[in-house]
Amino acid sequence: MNFIKHSLAVLGIIAAPVFAAGQVSISIDAGKPGPVINKNVYGQFAEHLGTGVYEGMYVGTNSNIPNTRGWRNDVVGALKELHVPLVRWPGGCFADSYHWRDGIGPQDKRPSNVNGGRVDEINAVGTHEFFDLIDMLGTEAYINGNVGTGSVQEMSDWVEYMTSDGGSPLARLRAQNGRDKPFKVAYFGIGNELWGCGGNMKPGYYANLYSNYEHFLRAPEKARPKMIAAGGDTSWTEVLSKELKDRTSGISIHQYTIPSGIWEVKGKTLGFKEDEWISTLAAASKMDQIIKDHLAVLDKNDPEKKIGLMIDEWGTWYDEEGRSGLYQQNSLRDALVAALSFHIFHEHAERVPMTTIAQMVNVLQAMILTDKEKMVLTPTYYTFQMYVPFQDAKTLPLAIKDNTSYTLGSTTIPGVSASAARAKDGKLYLALVNTDPSKPVEVAVNVAGTKVKGAAGKVLTSAAMDAHNTFEQPQAVKPAAFSARAAGGKLAIKVPAKAVIVVSLEE
Ligand code: AHR
Repeated sequence: MNFIKHSLAVLGIIAAPVFAAGQVSISIDAGKPGPVINKNVYGQFAEHLGTGVYEGMYVGTNSNIPNTRGWRNDVVGALKELHVPLVRWPGGCFADSYHWRDGIGPQDKRPSNVNGGRVDEINAVGTHEFFDLIDMLGTEAYINGNVGTGSVQEMSDWVEYMTSDGGSPLARLRAQNGRDKPFKVAYFGIGNELWGCGGNMKPGYYANLYSNYEHFLRAPEKARPKMIAAGGDTSWTEVLSKELKDRTSGISIHQYTIPSGIWEVKGKTLGFKEDEWISTLAAASKMDQIIKDHLAVLDKNDPEKKIGLMIDEWGTWYDEEGRSGLYQQNSLRDALVAALSFHIFHEHAERVPMTTIAQMVNVLQAMILTDKEKMVLTPTYYTFQMYVPFQDAKTLPLAIKDNTSYTLGSTTIPGVSASAARAKDGKLYLALVNTDPSKPVEVAVNVAGTKVKGAAGKVLTSAAMDAHNTFEQPQAVKPAAFSARAAGGKLAIKVPAKAVIVVSLEE
């Protein structure tokens, strides 16, 4: 009986114990809501890379895998649960070698092209198929155009093809291909990583190119996508924010989390030791300083705050094991990376209106892994699911007192990370992360001016740092119910080691 009680308490299913000495305390000021967390902060990225699109999501109408117009029913169904607000497509590096005309018209007449050195781009997924996915998910589209090997005319034609509402030859071509109404393009990216795979350019050169491209991107006034300039390090933000004022809605940056910090030997996906646990979480936490560095430049060059900072590629990147195409397993460690990143994005909600994690399925820090007809949801998937209430929620000021720290060797990171917001359903949500892989931590929660009666939600944790789901054991890591009741007018939440918790507070 005691054993059962203990186990349930570890999972947080029964009431958490009351206060202890040396407790971390969190104070939330619910009376002073801050900026809204744009739901697009929870965006996703789907690139034609490996099995990210083909097999992972699109199997074609002749497949034995149950599908709707070629899109896998199991994958689409699971993604719907995440309320995905935005999908970036078709790349990445792929975008700068993608020619949109190859992907329209009858599928059997479309050419095959070389992608990443192999002839494996069959163009079965083109503009119309992508927007079919967008419609099924009830999400918005972020299209990334081709600067590297395209032309101003080609990009201008694509935007017109998608957004023009009639009359133009390209709108007629779209109608001939089965779509009368224009597609809605929320964001349009002008190239990708121009400093590297997009063309090895200097920022000043790209700024001129961007202006030229952007000038000819014609869309009806009301349907004009938000244009995004592809940035790089802060020297790029410096040039782009000066040169592209009034021509761009955002500058995008990419920030990957690599356990070793070295691209050549990044680190293991599974079976890693504690040094790679802490180095990964420490690397993910650097996102905060990176955003601050870019925002310092933006604040100087764009004090009117017209330009957003979009982090349109982020997530973990490990050494490839087994399968190619940047396929990697995903463990509890990835769930914590996602949660810590969300807290940082919430902190910068005013200036970071959009991010897209790399990537949606089978590539890098994915939500979903597939192997032919099999599908499994990753710990990262569950983190996104737990944080759905934060989409379009109002941030609330939160202070952490007497935080623990977690140290291994020469690395120290904060023990507890937290974020609070008032969601659209009116409830106050609190998210907590305990980075320590061995020690639980007790957190006292105080909401100014309110007596909190309790908390209820979900906890995601496991016994091993690299706990993960496989096709054979798909339920090894998944959220469990969590609740805590206030005692003596005070609420204490016991956060297990290496855990993510999201709860709504009973006010
Ligand atoms: O997400 C994988 C690749 O990483 C993208 O194609 C590229 O933009 C980045 O370097």
